[in-house]
Amino acid sequence: MNKIAIIGTGRVGESAAQLLAKEELCRELVLLDINEGVPQGIALDIQESAPLFGFDTRLSGDTDPAAIEGAELVIITAGLPRKPGMSRSDLLDANVAIITPIIENIQRHAPQAIILMVSNPVDILTYHAWKLTGWDRRRVFGLSGVLDAARMASFIALETGYSVRDISTLVMGGHGDAMVPMLRYSHIGGIPVDHFLTPETLARIVEHTRKGGAEILALKQTSSAYDSPAACIATMADAVRRNRRRILPCVAILDGEYGRHEIAMGVPAVLGATGLEQVVELPLSEEEAAQIQNSADMVRKDLERLAHQ
Ligand code: 2OP
Repeated sequence: MNKIAIIGTGRVGESAAQLLAKEELCRELVLLDINEGVPQGIALDIQESAPLFGFDTRLSGDTDPAAIEGAELVIITAGLPRKPGMSRSDLLDANVAIITPIIENIQRHAPQAIILMVSNPVDILTYHAWKLTGWDRRRVFGLSGVLDAARMASFIALETGYSVRDISTLVMGGHGDAMVPMLRYSHIGGIPVDHFLTPETLARIVEHTRKGGAEILALKQTSSAYDSPAACIATMADAVRRNRRRILPCVAILDGEYGRHEIAMGVPAVLGATGLEQVVELPLSEEEAAQIQNSADMVRKDLERLAHQ
């Protein structure tokens, strides 16, 4: 993959650009934003770190959408971030208005691209992007489960004192307060987490995971999380770029999986060179199915709002 574009150079976009360049995930990295000078300045700043990190990725910044011409992966981080006290859904109207022309520009200038949606509410905007483009669903997916699962794994590591390297977690459903941390599919060194942690501690970790984004926002006040989301972007871009066929929780358009159609939400999926190759369907307990239903209902409510726009 020679060219990746990041649209939106707020804190998430900028941090992601630094990681993508440092890991040489592409030869050419284009940063696009509407604020003249900002993407150019960020591109130059990161470029000047190249001799220190030893990367040959070439960065450029632009306000002209034509600059994304030929990009094979387009990462969308543009849009308003949450303010303390806001839910991700509160951003829906404002961010749909911002994302719609961006999608049209991608169709015009990078019609072969894979789209990774990061902006919130991510489930709704992923669905919106898929509907607008009419593209194969494998080429339009979103980031949320990688972030939520990383939060959950971090909390398990802090609680147990064991290495994050051996911790594997899964979070499904919408990227909102009703997301579903899947304890039964979370392990340390291949051993189910309930071998190490009491039900009370696990319940606390589940709640902490659900509120992880809001917690950081409440602490920082003027910014949402961006270091960890940027690391998630790099992880997903790496899976696509290097055709790793990793199994990661992604916001996927469902076409019958988990008994659902016409919805985007977090499910485990195979991520490789062609994008989201396949949704992995898991057997669910009654309780897990009920929690996922609840989370999907929240996404559905927002999708109805989208339909009435
Ligand atoms: C988060 O969970 C901003 O949705 C993002 O931190």
